[in-house]
Amino acid sequence: MNKRKTILDIGMMKDKQDKITVLTAYDYPFAQLMDNAGIDMILVGDSVGSVFSGYDNTLPVTVEEMLYHTKAVVRGAKQALIVTDMPFMSYQVDIRDARLNAGRLIKEGGAHAVKLEGGEHVAATIRAIVDIDIPVVGHIGLTPQSIHRMGGFKVQGRQDAQARQIMADAKAVEEAGAFALVLEGIPKDLAKEVTASISIPTIGIGAGSDCDGQVLVIHDILGLCDKYSPKFVKRFADISTTISTGIDQYIKEVKGGDFPTTEHSFK
Ligand code: KIV
Repeated sequence: MNKRKTILDIGMMKDKQDKITVLTAYDYPFAQLMDNAGIDMILVGDSVGSVFSGYDNTLPVTVEEMLYHTKAVVRGAKQALIVTDMPFMSYQVDIRDARLNAGRLIKEGGAHAVKLEGGEHVAATIRAIVDIDIPVVGHIGLTPQSIHRMGGFKVQGRQDAQARQIMADAKAVEEAGAFALVLEGIPKDLAKEVTASISIPTIGIGAGSDCDGQVLVIHDILGLCDKYSPKFVKRFADISTTISTGIDQYIKEVKGGDFPTTEHSFK
């Protein structure tokens, strides 16, 4: 069995220019499949709210829900580093709350690190969590928990002032002690500049190919989500069709009396 990846391994991958692979998972079977495939990091994302629970956005997700999904993922993954998202309102109000909630995700959930959204304005919170020995991943650019401020899921950093803010955010997150930084929904050239100007690895989603790694939502890459699919998503497989075919066949066989046969029955 492969040794569990640590934040040190992830940091070294930037130096070696070895691209970091990250996918989201919310349950045991998917965690096991991607772990067996050799994924470097698994993100128990608050995207669980959209693609698993069917909410319109990530805002309703709770710490309890993140704990539930984290525990399932931890049981399935033996070699990947597991990072869990801190959901909306679990770190925004005060630092004590942020530390307690981060601590629960590690202690009760079994995650190895937490991720939280924001740049300069959450730097003190990141520092406070890192100071109690909990590794943190930052997340800047298009931050889904800020959907109402941004006026929707819009690419960030196209204007000069916004781009300068994103650079300042990246520096602030690095200085606060985060070990990696997610760059979401920003122009490719800006992501390249950020990646070159900080020492911690950048993990891109809709941020082009120059980031140190890439992350995508598992439901998006497998065609499991019928919702709007952003431009940056590539569908690597279509398991919806496979699942629907299986379900159709089940219904047909039960209705037609072809299932169960004696093979699936007890004497
Ligand atoms: O919640 C999530 O899945 C995320 C990634 C898409 C970066 O934050």
